[in-house]
Amino acid sequence: MVRSGKMLVTYGAWGVSTRGVAAAVAEALASDRLSVDVRPAREVDNLAGYRAVVIGTPLQAGRLHEDVREFVERHRTALHDIPVAVFAVCLAMKADTPENRRDVEGSLATLWEACPEAKPVDIGLFGRAARPREVALQRLPFARRARHKNMKPLGGSYSDWDDVVAWTARAHDRLIGG
Ligand SMILES: Cc1cc2nc3c(=O)[nH]c(=O)nc-3n(C[C@H](O)[C@H](O)[C@H](O)COP(=O)(O)O)c2cc1C
Repeated sequence: MVRSGKMLVTYGAWGVSTRGVAAAVAEALASDRLSVDVRPAREVDNLAGYRAVVIGTPLQAGRLHEDVREFVERHRTALHDIPVAVFAVCLAMKADTPENRRDVEGSLATLWEACPEAKPVDIGLFGRAARPREVALQRLPFARRARHKNMKPLGGSYSDWDDVVAWTARAHDRLIGG
């Protein structure tokens, strides 16, 4: 099984959570033989050269990000031939219950209504991001915590890293073979 090539991780986002998870997925996917581009969905004009695609979206009021809807619509022909995995980042998945999964998966399923051949090989569901910087701050002694609070945040926020890495490993195998 050939595992080399290039993959795309693309996302729509209102805030920073989905972008942070997309970056974590890309980092977990990348290897010596597999390069990974991370790009906002609205900036992707062409899927030529990608052997697989991972699409990430947040949810607002049960709806997926418009950029992701448009991405699937715009690339529907190419997506027939490229394996796709999808992940959602949303508050509901902070409580990973069968009901919440069903609701979020129901929202994601609307993506494939116009493009049934492009059904994802895997779906990742992540609760709204935990913020490592804030978690780290809580562990600092009070005086240092006050000083660090005035510093600029270092970056985005991330869902639980272990969950993202575990899902990415499974999605990788389904996208391009284990
Ligand atoms: C106006 C608004 C509506 C939201 N609606 C939902 C929702 O219906 N279901 C859900 O699980 N999360 C909902 N959320 C939570 C977002 O999905 C969550 O904050 C997500 O991490 C945002 O990702 P982003 O930072 O990449 O934009 C909502 C958040 C906002 C601000």
